Amino acid sequence: MFNAPQISKCKLIYLPKVENVKGNLTFIEENEHIPFPIKRVYYLYDVPGGESRGGHAHKTLEQFIIAANGSFDVILDDGNNKESYHMNRSYYGLYIPKMIWRELENFSSGSVCLVLASELYDEDDYIRDQSNCKQLNGDQNFLSI
Ligand code: TYD
Repeated sequence: MFNAPQISKCKLIYLPKVENVKGNLTFIEENEHIPFPIKRVYYLYDVPGGESRGGHAHKTLEQFIIAANGSFDVILDDGNNKESYHMNRSYYGLYIPKMIWRELENFSSGSVCLVLASELYDEDDYIRDQSNCKQLNGDQNFLSI
């Protein structure tokens, strides 16, 4: 069966929010709130106005992106369809499976983009050429790996 990484697999996931007059709290448990084991956490911050991040896809990596502070946009492309998400709350995140091209842009001043990742950092897992990504998305043998 054709195993294309459709953009429909990308989704916003709402997280538990423990509300308190002294401040709210959100927590994330692997395999409970997000569909993969968390092997790595990183965050983007001090992004200058007008800058964009991302501009790549991953061969195997799954990610969950949260606007821990401020806001930014995530533009996704699976080679056939595009979707855009405005991230501006810390109680939900965007799940991105493998082989989805992503661009992050329109960072607000002081924004923090928190990323949970299913694997350790591996440059070999990156696809940094969008036409190559589109080509691989049409390659059934590659996708079934
Ligand atoms: P990259 O993922 O390309 O940044 P972004 O997609 O946010 O624009 O990472 C930028 C550089 O940071 C990369 O060349 C290597 C380094 N890096 C690490 O060393 N470890 C990591 O976990 C990440 C995400 C990046």
